[in-house]
Amino acid sequence: MVQIVPSILSADFARLGEDIAKVEQGGAQMLHIDIMDGHFVPNLTFGPPVVESIRKISNLIFDVHLMIEDPDTYAPMFIAAGANQVSVHQEACRHLDRTLHMIQQHGAKAGVVINPATPVNTLDDVLDFVDFVLVMSVNPGFGGQAFIPNSLNKIRQLAALREQRRLNFSIEIDGGVSTKNAADIVRAGCDWLVAGSFVFHSANPAATVKELQQTASEALLARV
Ligand code: DX5
Ligand code: ZN
Repeated sequence: MVQIVPSILSADFARLGEDIAKVEQGGAQMLHIDIMDGHFVPNLTFGPPVVESIRKISNLIFDVHLMIEDPDTYAPMFIAAGANQVSVHQEACRHLDRTLHMIQQHGAKAGVVINPATPVNTLDDVLDFVDFVLVMSVNPGFGGQAFIPNSLNKIRQLAALREQRRLNFSIEIDGGVSTKNAADIVRAGCDWLVAGSFVFHSANPAATVKELQQTASEALLARV
């Protein structure tokens, strides 16, 4: 099944618990949590205490996206705070193989993220063991940006590699996702669609998650 993964970056932080409850009502099973350190990206968000707090009010799968310069120090802290899966940027990791294995050893799924200007072939040597690959379809740092169309080619490349090499990693996309492009993204081979502003800036986030899910599920039927 294709998953819609609401990103709380665009939630109302004064009502974070209520906003999370809305997307749960809409049928979301995963929640995307963007961690920014003001160095790797020009923006700041939250630390482990926020994850720990929302862990107490939600059973969703917490998908923590680290846009930080020192993932080795902080990934274990986010896992201890309740992250089920953690993704790290290829561009931020000097020892990517070690970092991804370390995340798995701490009991979380490990994902690797590539920025729009980073080619898929930089991941050739980690695809064998990584749990998921996240393709950035905007330059990371902010919600509400326009989808970069070349991201679809990267999804297609990853889906083809997965088939050729008989691998099991999931493919996730992040940035500028809406009902306008969700079908194309799923048809390209994507499994998890992160959506921030399209969900949380809509009048009815629960209904918007359902609508995206419906669009994605129909496209999945057309794919197989
Ligand atoms: C951007 C973040 C995204 C962001 C997506 O750097 O990684 O997860 O929340 O927001 P939208 O869906 O508004 O592009
Ligand atoms: Zn993200």
